[in-house]
Amino acid sequence: MDKIRIRGGRPLSGRVAVSGSKNAVLPILAACLLVEGEVILDGVPILEDVHNILRLLESLGMDSSWDKDGSLRLRVLEEENSFAHYGLVRTMRASFCVLGPLWAKRGRAVVSYPGGCVFGHRPVDLHLKGLEGIGARIERKKGDVHISGPVLGGQVYLGSNFGSTVLGTANVLMAAVLGRGETTIDYAAQEPEIVDLCRFLNACGAKISGVGTHRLQIQGVARLEGCRYRVIPDRIEAGTLLMAGLITGGEVEVLGARPDHLAAVLDRLRVAGARFEMGWVEAEEGEDLGRRGMGGLDPARVPVIPRQAQRPGRAPLGRDREAPFLADRILYERTSEPSGGGEGGDCFPFVRVLPSDQLQGVDVATNPYPGFPTDLQAQFIALMTQAHGVSLVTEKIYPERFIHVAELARLGARIRREGPTAIVQGPERLSGTTVMASDLRASAALILAGLVAEGSTEVRRVYHLDRGYEALEKKLRKLGAEIERVREQ
Ligand code: EPU
Repeated sequence: MDKIRIRGGRPLSGRVAVSGSKNAVLPILAACLLVEGEVILDGVPILEDVHNILRLLESLGMDSSWDKDGSLRLRVLEEENSFAHYGLVRTMRASFCVLGPLWAKRGRAVVSYPGGCVFGHRPVDLHLKGLEGIGARIERKKGDVHISGPVLGGQVYLGSNFGSTVLGTANVLMAAVLGRGETTIDYAAQEPEIVDLCRFLNACGAKISGVGTHRLQIQGVARLEGCRYRVIPDRIEAGTLLMAGLITGGEVEVLGARPDHLAAVLDRLRVAGARFEMGWVEAEEGEDLGRRGMGGLDPARVPVIPRQAQRPGRAPLGRDREAPFLADRILYERTSEPSGGGEGGDCFPFVRVLPSDQLQGVDVATNPYPGFPTDLQAQFIALMTQAHGVSLVTEKIYPERFIHVAELARLGARIRREGPTAIVQGPERLSGTTVMASDLRASAALILAGLVAEGSTEVRRVYHLDRGYEALEKKLRKLGAEIERVREQ
């Protein structure tokens, strides 16, 4: 088993590119079960979770192959098997997302319950309620969900005490696109990953409107055709890399960080005293930076914008919104569509975090998008251990998602928990030791802490990290971190 060893104390500097979004690509891959013909996906990150879902899809009759340029080709070859068994589903909750598409395309399916998770109970009741609301007959037998009946369409409401459900919205949406009638999903998740799934499905011929809002309207169609599509960059990886720059007091430019996807995060960081520049980097004529995928992008090949050539512009908030916002300086005005989230694209958004003198503690509460993401809560706590004063970090999506707190405390962090809130007292000098990663984002938080801890920090159980970050330690090493992967005896 591998572990990550870090020697802390080096400010990071340079530029780094984020990979395609894990949480966007997993449901998009499941959605390929709906499609007739070939799908080509660009920007697919190379991750354990991606390999896992591809294994599951293969068992369900899908063929997949990687092109030399990093694109992934997918095609359903046979549709006989509609059973996603526990052995393949238990490793990853996103596997449960094959339920909707299998049912819609093959008429029936059996999918194992995904099981527990280290950060508490994660039910799938809303997935099942939503599917029943559009015609599914559901039986629960021996740990499996059996689904059958026609996809009729209907009106469903997916809200809960914790907001909407991301993968639940994906499941209902994927079934509804091949439904006989019209479906309305109220309190649908608005996360950029759901927007990406909608855009992909629409590119295949689906009829979804209200994309990006809490009300999705879906007009069922008879079939979906293959298409070529590029996945959005990973906003959680982008946020993690920005915090890595900040925690070390360095200057890091994160290519593929979309300010529109990171508004809540940039807001909190800015209130804590961080300063940013942001803008767009454009490709050479004829070159399509995104085609190779964000992950495959070599930052050295992306032209640096000379400072004197930088024009003041409006904040790059993405396709839909533009407003002066957040950045201390906007370096470049957007002239074409951002990379990620569709076809083509020849410019990259970037956010550059500048060295800050002193960070102040700030409070944050996680919330559904566009609120502060729960998937950056652990990393934010790590950052706040280095800020001056007290920070209250409240978890509103998964009130138990705090296992990293005990491990951060082993590095010397002063953190108390009161119910769903972690109370962080900083700045605290951290001192390296061996720590255990309990889940994906906890691994990232421990690595961030290791970057500033004195001496050597060893993070064990890094298979969690490999599930969802593409080559994080290599990216950090390129930015100057003293970090290596060590094979454990
Ligand atoms: N919930 C229910 N019933 C359901 C489904 C969810 O009560 O049927 C509750 C959950 O317990 C939670 C809240 O609703 O309190 C939100 O859960 P959601 O369903 O939105 O989570 P998810 O779709 O299972 C995705 C991401 C998670 C991310 C959450 C929240 C993927 C593959 N996973 O999970 O990502 O934390 O949304 O944004 O997209 C990660 O990447 O590390 C990760 C855990």
